[in-house]
Amino acid sequence: MDSKLQWIALPIEKSQLNEQLPPGKLCRIRINNFFLCLAHTTQGNVYAIEDSCPHRGAPLHQGRLNDYEEIICPLHDYRFDLRTGRAAQHYFGCSDALVFPLRWQAGQLYVGLPEKLLDK
Ligand code: FES
Repeated sequence: MDSKLQWIALPIEKSQLNEQLPPGKLCRIRINNFFLCLAHTTQGNVYAIEDSCPHRGAPLHQGRLNDYEEIICPLHDYRFDLRTGRAAQHYFGCSDALVFPLRWQAGQLYVGLPEKLLDK
């Protein structure tokens, strides 16, 4: 992703992570007009992915996680790797999903979003 990143604080604290977003759960966070899906996998990792499936736009936060760091779309069950956004198979007409870096800073979770996404 070539656009400059803007780091935005999310309402998730490290000490409260398992209560705010339990392992195996997904949630949606709105940032301006952009919708982000946060995933906390059963392996204990947290990922950020655009909350819009690249296939037909279904809200990914209504999907589910498997044990392979993948999110499964609620509409047609396509799978996307949360680490890379790559579609698990070469689904016809489906590009990869957008994923974004996360970091903890002073116990708060931040997401790095390209500025061009926030300009919309
Ligand atoms: S809309 Fe997500 S797989 Fe079709």
